[in-house]
Amino acid sequence: MIDRATVDRIYAAANIVEVVGDFVTLKRKGVNYQACCPFHNEKTPSFVVSPAKGMYKCFGCGKGGNAVTFVMEHEGMSYVEALKYVGRKYGIEVQEREETPEDKKRNDDRESMMVVSSFAADYFKKQLHGTREGQSVGLSYFRERGFSDATIEKFQLGYCPSAGDDFSKAALKEGFQEEFLIRTGLTIKRDNGTYYDRFTGRVMFPIHGITGRVMAFGGRTLRSDKKTAKYLNSPESEIYHKSNVLYGLYFAKKAIAQEDCCILVEGYTDVISMHQSGVENVVASSGTSLTENQIKLISRFTKNVTVIYDGDAAGIKASLRGIDMILKEGLNVRVVLLPEPEDPDSFARSHTVSELREYIGGHEEDFISFKTRLLMADAKNDPIRRAALIGDIVESISVIPDAITRNVYVRECATVMDIDESVLLEEIRKRRRESVFSREEKEFFRRREELERKSGPDAQPGRRETKVTGGSGPEELEHELLTYLLKYGCKEVEFGCGDTAYTASVATAIIEELQGDNIAFSNPVYNTIYQEYKKIYNENPLRSAEEFPMNRLTAYPDTEVCNAVVDILMAGETLKPSRIWERNEIVVRTEEETLSEAVPRTVTLYKTKIIEQMIERLTAELKGIGFDEAGEIMRQIGVLNDMRRQICEKYSRILL
Ligand code: CTP
Ligand code: MN
Repeated sequence: MIDRATVDRIYAAANIVEVVGDFVTLKRKGVNYQACCPFHNEKTPSFVVSPAKGMYKCFGCGKGGNAVTFVMEHEGMSYVEALKYVGRKYGIEVQEREETPEDKKRNDDRESMMVVSSFAADYFKKQLHGTREGQSVGLSYFRERGFSDATIEKFQLGYCPSAGDDFSKAALKEGFQEEFLIRTGLTIKRDNGTYYDRFTGRVMFPIHGITGRVMAFGGRTLRSDKKTAKYLNSPESEIYHKSNVLYGLYFAKKAIAQEDCCILVEGYTDVISMHQSGVENVVASSGTSLTENQIKLISRFTKNVTVIYDGDAAGIKASLRGIDMILKEGLNVRVVLLPEPEDPDSFARSHTVSELREYIGGHEEDFISFKTRLLMADAKNDPIRRAALIGDIVESISVIPDAITRNVYVRECATVMDIDESVLLEEIRKRRRESVFSREEKEFFRRREELERKSGPDAQPGRRETKVTGGSGPEELEHELLTYLLKYGCKEVEFGCGDTAYTASVATAIIEELQGDNIAFSNPVYNTIYQEYKKIYNENPLRSAEEFPMNRLTAYPDTEVCNAVVDILMAGETLKPSRIWERNEIVVRTEEETLSEAVPRTVTLYKTKIIEQMIERLTAELKGIGFDEAGEIMRQIGVLNDMRRQICEKYSRILL
């Protein structure tokens, strides 16, 4: 990477007319230059270069960008190559290095820890296969458990000798620094300066990161006395955050995506035995209760999770909370209960792969019904416990983001618990009301919009929602807002009049106004531009137009983003007027002169548009919903209507 200061210097030096002029014959036309486009065949020139903006744009084929992206496009260079080329043209030396010394140290340290871990995995493996103790203690244990040689190899299982410090000595002898042995937790240093191996005398399960590198270990003791912990794990470190890791994910990720389902089990050996039997979409949370990050990790590959429990009821109850969290992420959770006293490990070993699959397929039950049944069995004849149970079930249902899904569960649970649907609905309503328009609720709206954008209503059968009518969506207004930001963001303008008058930059007027509501643009490309602009603005709000690092947008890694930025900035450079103004009455004044009115108006219109959209959406939802939940939705609509009114009032105060 080239450091940012150098990149900025290159852009500051680059003269677009000179850079493009090296490849294309440009003709002056007013303040701009023109040529036949070098990117497509044409007879009349529609390729425009603006020296003031440092940009080019072909209004024929649509290609556009800055000096550096021109060289990339024209010469087929990478971004870095093009930067170097332009740098060289202007005598700027390009040094390819971005890391600060601290960055470098941190990365080097992490890398060192990874290398130590990978050495350790290798060492433990060699011990298992190549030493007397390893073979007679470790290897025979794995074989006794039914692990095949291929499985032992695949999971890189190993053995740590019992001598006490064999591993540490070997690693130090190999030249590894004590510091990294200690930071990975593989070695522990006693007060008297001697070392001992954390995993002394244990069989070793390396824990792989998602790319397959070893980051940590679990070590199982072979002793059966109760005083020794059965498993010992690597401590938290710069390379191992237990809560972000799922054991086996590296080996399972392909199968998870293929089967569109992730099976969740409890332990290392469960994962390994199931893999060995041929079911490979399996991961374990390794003894800890599931974390939000682990769920997010799963949801990158699939939205369907099947949890396999062994028959131990206490263990199941302890894990119920964690599963609510999976529901909250919008994942579908199913549960399979194994017959006692089996666990996934023993069950996989004693059954063929087809039996295993058949059992899972035939005994899957959705989580909420499962939980209801499980807890009902205890509480049946005890009214107090029953009431508590209702609360519990309601809690699970109320975290589900989708209303239709919630209603399905309400119906089902009402039957199982023999209780009136409306009682459950009322409880759910209460719980969800607390969170209405909190951050959570907004997040819910955001996610739903995202979902709908991605898949469209057709992709979700069973959803009775009508599509919000297109045409005058918020995107046009988003485009307008970006036009003001990109073209006039740094310009100081007097807004309002009388005692409400205030002076601010256009960027401040827009960003501060929208930031309060933490709005994300609905068009993803526009949103990227807006967020990136905001980032630049927040880093240095007082930049002048000349100083503003527009290259961070015109050379943004995503070409769709670059194109949109260039289109906005170059829009005025053709004969046609900017499309925002052509259908408005204001023709005599320039865009710039109208900013003091146009900016607040567009912001207001945009905010009301978003609220109206939410109202439409909620109204549509009313159609598919029971009477009780309708009350809640009506209330939400009321809140939105109030918000809209307030926004309009504020706007009229500013303008009139
Ligand atoms: N675990 C742990 N520390 C312990 C016990 C358990 O970290 N003292 C974690 C391990 O990741 C283990 C998982 O919890 O894999 C499940 O525990 P358990 O069912 O007791 O172990 P198994 O994997 O079934 O191991 P084994 O079959 O060898 O008893
Ligand atoms: Mn077990």
